[in-house]
Amino acid sequence: MNTLDTLRRFYARLVTSSGGDADPRIVEAFANVEREAFVGPGPWQIAAEGGYMDSGTDDPAILYQDINIGLVPKLGINNGQPSLHARCLAACAPKAGEVVVHVGAGTGYYTAMLARLVERSGHVHAFEINPDLASRSERNLSGYGNVTVHAASAVEAHLPPASVIYVCAGATHIPDIWLDALTIGGRLILPLTTSDGPGFMLLVTRQSGATYEARHISSAYFIGCIGARDETQSHALRAALRAQSPKAIRSLRRGEAPDETAWCAGPGWWLSTASLP
Ligand SMILES: C[S@@+](CC[C@H](N)C(=O)[O-])C[C@H]1O[C@@H](n2cnc3c(N)ncnc32)[C@H](O)[C@@H]1O
Repeated sequence: MNTLDTLRRFYARLVTSSGGDADPRIVEAFANVEREAFVGPGPWQIAAEGGYMDSGTDDPAILYQDINIGLVPKLGINNGQPSLHARCLAACAPKAGEVVVHVGAGTGYYTAMLARLVERSGHVHAFEINPDLASRSERNLSGYGNVTVHAASAVEAHLPPASVIYVCAGATHIPDIWLDALTIGGRLILPLTTSDGPGFMLLVTRQSGATYEARHISSAYFIGCIGARDETQSHALRAALRAQSPKAIRSLRRGEAPDETAWCAGPGWWLSTASLP
């Protein structure tokens, strides 16, 4: 085993360690996907408090830390924090044979992990609205026969029925198109974020036609999802976050008026602190 393989194996164990016993399939995904093949040539811009820091080296060893690497620093587009994604992948648990919609694929690093997790019998539809990033991800993922890259907005596209919708750009509210595309048993994981950035990862699981379980996974800070941002919704989300912890969320309701258990309401849906009956 060469040094990079050793570093990648340690990194995989480290970034998957936060939630107790790690799923070995997710550890394997982090241990096998080469980050240097997705983040472009070094030296890299590392997102740090107060701005970006130059890595000062093009040695890929530096990539195997729990750091956020700039993909297009001038647009604030980064290759997300590995430990956050490890937690999100564990929460939505993609399985062999499932169809995944990945929203905001960037250059495809986490798309590659999703593709490994659904195996050859599954498929990943990766949506990336930035044309340069979409073509980079298409190139980077050309060896994956179970991935289709769509250079398009996942808020406006026609989405296939999906077992998992994995969103990597912050939304102020939950677009109907994502809730509608979920199959029964399907999981949507998304950053619900205010317009100044902070928010949290929410996992929504469709139980039946109009009933969805929902729960907080972790705090999160993401750049915005184009087409899923709205100032009124951002205000409502900020007010909800001030009033009560999102850890209290238990379900998502559609087609009924919010009651006293409402945590936050959007157009046609609301999050409730009450579990499903
Ligand atoms: C935080 S970056 C994701 C980076 C990627 N997951 C990675 O780690 O390499 C968010 C991405 O979402 C894309 N994006 C924003 N709105 C989108 C939309 N409506 N549909 C598809 N992609 C979108 C942005 O262009 C950006 O590349």
